[in-house]
Amino acid sequence: MSSASRRKVLLMGKSGSGKTSMRSVIFSNYTAKDTRRLGATIDVEQSAVRLLGSLVLNLWDCGGQDAFLDNYLVAQRDTIFTNVAVLIYVFDITSSEWEKDVHYFEDNLQALRENSADAGIWVLINKMDLVDKEDPKRLMYAERRAEILAMNERLSAGVDNAGPCRIFPTSIWDESLYKAWSSVIHYLIPNIKLITEHLTYFRDLTKAAEVAVFEGETFLVMAKSGSPLDAAEVELDEWESERGVGRLDRQRFEKVSEIIKSFRRTCQRTGEQFLGFEADFDGCVVVLEPLTRNTFMLVITTDPRLTASMVKYNISQSTIHFV
Ligand code: GTP
Repeated sequence: MSSASRRKVLLMGKSGSGKTSMRSVIFSNYTAKDTRRLGATIDVEQSAVRLLGSLVLNLWDCGGQDAFLDNYLVAQRDTIFTNVAVLIYVFDITSSEWEKDVHYFEDNLQALRENSADAGIWVLINKMDLVDKEDPKRLMYAERRAEILAMNERLSAGVDNAGPCRIFPTSIWDESLYKAWSSVIHYLIPNIKLITEHLTYFRDLTKAAEVAVFEGETFLVMAKSGSPLDAAEVELDEWESERGVGRLDRQRFEKVSEIIKSFRRTCQRTGEQFLGFEADFDGCVVVLEPLTRNTFMLVITTDPRLTASMVKYNISQSTIHFV
């Protein structure tokens, strides 16, 4: 494997914000409940995760206890912050020390821009499940978001090739976690534009309503037909606008990720192998089939002439374009 396909991803944030929990739910098949057993991470825990055969994420889970924080910024500054593709920074929305948390984030951001100017920054404001809709902390989310974006803009001023900064509200208890991490994977896949074009071509050719591709282990959504995965609703292509795709749940693919992962866990418990899924209801056919060794394709059709076996045949015929 060439080193070009290895991408370093830093996972940082204060102790208890949920870094190891996220990593365990996404990459190690933990349920949200299982994460209650996790202990604090000592120093940096490195793991390599192979996605799509040719893309390897080198995940650096940096323990967030105060004792380690200064060490990252001083003694280990070069080791930690060089060659980073993405920094995933996790905040705990319930923290009562926002000023301190944001100050530490600023130090990390500065170290990152100095050592890996073009790294992408994904800020996840986690544990959103712990604040209900009326809670002032939830209302504060927009304020926090604006503050982080302004800080990034200030620290990236004058850096020509500064990577993007994205912010997501997350909880390990729902699909918002998949939304945020899918966005990271989407960013790291080198030929994502081509994959999106292939999926759109496949959708149009087979008269499907929508097509998406999931990574086979994590079930993170990698790409979908039509407008890019992270596009705003206004960027819907003609096909999507005609079919009212803008009215659909924006998190629909992440919901599928979460449901399939939990279904697969049930299969494992009962000793069954998860091979795919199909459903036919109200003239709508939904098929999830292996596409390549590392991916699954989800196809949704609303054309009454199309059956699940036709859709499966189309998927098998398209495999060659995706390997
Ligand atoms: P360090 O390893 O010390 O840096 O901490 P960490 O950021 O890795 O935190 P960890 O993943 O160990 O999570 C701490 C606790 O928070 C665990 O008990 C998790 O179950 C809980 N937790 C993590 N994410 C969430 C979330 O989204 N919602 C809720 N309610 N609890 C969460």
